[in-house]
Amino acid sequence: MTPARRVELRRATLNAAANSRDQTQKKAGTITVSGLSIKDLSMRFDLPNGSSVQALENVSLDLKEGELMSVLGPSGCGKTTLLNIVAGFLAPTSGTLVMNGHEITGPDAERGMVFQKGALFEWMSVRENVGFGPSMKGMPKAEKAQIVDHLLDVVGLQDFKEKAVYELSGGMQQRVALARCLANDPDVILMDEPLGALDALTREKMQSLVLKLWKETGKTIILITHSVEEALLLGERLIVMAPRPGRIHKEYHLPFAELGVGADLREVKKHPEFGSKRDEILAMIWDMEEEIMGRTEAAT
Ligand SMILES: Nc1ncnc2c1ncn2[C@@H]1O[C@H](COP(=O)(O)OP(=O)(O)OP(=O)(O)O)[C@@H](O)[C@H]1O
Ligand SMILES: [Mg+2]
Repeated sequence: MTPARRVELRRATLNAAANSRDQTQKKAGTITVSGLSIKDLSMRFDLPNGSSVQALENVSLDLKEGELMSVLGPSGCGKTTLLNIVAGFLAPTSGTLVMNGHEITGPDAERGMVFQKGALFEWMSVRENVGFGPSMKGMPKAEKAQIVDHLLDVVGLQDFKEKAVYELSGGMQQRVALARCLANDPDVILMDEPLGALDALTREKMQSLVLKLWKETGKTIILITHSVEEALLLGERLIVMAPRPGRIHKEYHLPFAELGVGADLREVKKHPEFGSKRDEILAMIWDMEEEIMGRTEAAT
């Protein structure tokens, strides 16, 4: 084969690969190659009594690699359902989810989850918890030890690595949960109210840690919270969801997460726009809660 023919064939192969990628993306209805693309996602739970709950309806969202997005909304508006679908724990009734060019069909190490609490292995030490994912992957011991040590440094738990989980405070346990998630090197970290069970001071420290990890690792993060202030601080992008059916009600692009990296978060909260956004979102969620209460009262 002549060199010119070889180049021609190579070009044809590359074009075919690019076309096939385009086709996959068109089929999935997305143009995002890198990152997460959610298109027309709906989820209906059919209940044993014959009724059903429309937990999500036509949710569409594109998340770029490295974006930090917080999710707010009244109880029952489908936040956890959305996260569970992205994690691959639940299959949606309809819609598509594409991550880095491939469709999400189930759980995968590329998507790590941090729960509110209680997801650590109680019988293992801190070191063993953080090293669990790498162990499952069959990573050589020395490499695993290096990763675990590094992550324990990052979350400030080096001195606690041989402790059992039950010997740790709630905040420390959440730091272990974060380190364990990072040890799998996921592309996306999904957090469902990860700081909800912590006292105010520990929560503030953890908020700073989340921002630090986001900046240092460049991971894409979706964080659900009930706290409007936390959503403002930890979301360069913030979505407010509305209930019945669960849907995206409003979206904000905010400067506070960027401002908060390595800074005193109490100072960030003094930003003039912070207070006005907080009041606006609080009123929005308050109105939704009122509407739900009204509907519930009317139904009884
Ligand atoms: N497995 C299930 N079976 C039936 N209904 C469900 C199931 N999971 C969730 N739902 C319903 O779907 C709706 C959304 O629930 P979801 O847990 O996603 O809300 P949420 O926004 O996370 O609420 P919260 O803020 O209280 O955690 C609710 O009406 C809930 O009752
Ligand atoms: Mg929830």
